[in-house]
Amino acid sequence: MKPEALRIDGERLMARLAQLAEIGPIEDGGNCRLALSDEDKAGRDRVCGWMRELGLEVAVDAIGNIFGCRRGSEDLPPVMTGSHIDTVRTGGRYDGNLGVLAGLEGVRTLNDAGLATRRPLVIAVFSNEEGARFAPDMLGSLVYAGGLPLGDALDTVSIDGQRLGDELTRIGYAGAAPIGLHRPHAYVELHIEQGPVLDVEQVTIGAVENLQGISWQEIAIAGQSNHAGTTPMRLRHDAGYCAAAIGTFLRRLAGEIGGGQVCTMGAVTLHPNLINVIAARAKLTADLRNTDEAVLRGAEQRLAAFLADLALSEGVHIETRRLARFEPVQFDEALARRIEQVAARLGHSHRRMTSGAGHDAQMLARICPAGMIFVPSVRGISHNPAEHTEPAHLEAGANVLLQVLLELAA
Ligand code: GLV
Ligand code: MN
Ligand code: MN
Repeated sequence: MKPEALRIDGERLMARLAQLAEIGPIEDGGNCRLALSDEDKAGRDRVCGWMRELGLEVAVDAIGNIFGCRRGSEDLPPVMTGSHIDTVRTGGRYDGNLGVLAGLEGVRTLNDAGLATRRPLVIAVFSNEEGARFAPDMLGSLVYAGGLPLGDALDTVSIDGQRLGDELTRIGYAGAAPIGLHRPHAYVELHIEQGPVLDVEQVTIGAVENLQGISWQEIAIAGQSNHAGTTPMRLRHDAGYCAAAIGTFLRRLAGEIGGGQVCTMGAVTLHPNLINVIAARAKLTADLRNTDEAVLRGAEQRLAAFLADLALSEGVHIETRRLARFEPVQFDEALARRIEQVAARLGHSHRRMTSGAGHDAQMLARICPAGMIFVPSVRGISHNPAEHTEPAHLEAGANVLLQVLLELAA
């Protein structure tokens, strides 16, 4: 069969997605496989087993990234695809997993057809993409691309107080392969959109051309704990009030900047967290994103000014700690065009788009031409067990991925 006529088996892809989702199940069909947890280990074991069944040479590097390599007819830099299989605590079954399992399904299709590619194909599973347990997000691919020294990454401490390097060793994924193994000729990643654009417009394939900048920080407030009934309002140093004020400010800031600016307070904890005690301490997170670096920087500056004023007016101490900072990314134009052309050839509607979420592809873009293929997320819901993509769209995305990989590897 001619390579351009090859198609993946959608049912086989769905079956693997369901089998991976059996690991770390949560209510309502979602998944919890926080990075380097026991569930992440079990998911990794399953994916590595599938890679070996497909005849891939499996290697694990020093930050726990997994690479399954299918040799090419020539020993050239490989074409790489993949994504991640870690999830947020309340994750769905497609975020990340689709990119990895569609890559494996592509390999299975090539194996069945007895087809060799000129360049090797590598399926990558990057460590800790989500950043929900260890910040920053996209940590494995960031280290892979040379953006963060391995030692610093291994010393990262999780929200539950564990050192990343220790957790990696504990689950058996502190690998021997060097950082930067299989430096790719090109990287292309299939992912669910995780936003509403394709679903609303009834378009099947997104050719992603850029990805917005991400600014994460943790804000720690130290006030004074006191009696909720006896302390006059004017004499309070209330960390709980400050946390609420910051949350409200973030929403106002996004509205005032407008355009695509987004701001989120996703986590907040109070201490001692009791009904009749003014909070002594609060810790919260701020997630700011924009496709325009200058606007994003402006948003960070306005938040900093607000925090300084708040500390003064409430008489509290506020400290910030940077958790992640990535500039907006432009993906490879030729690759985006290739994705559009393949989508058109396969008869799928398509459009250019921006990624609102962070992805491993943004780190790979630092070292090789990189691009992304999006498929619709029903009602734009993600990081939620209700995350859903229609099987026909999963299949369409996997077929576009396979054809793009074949062209790049020819
Ligand atoms: C990663 O999933 C992110 O965009 O937060
Ligand atoms: Mn993802
Ligand atoms: Mn995610």
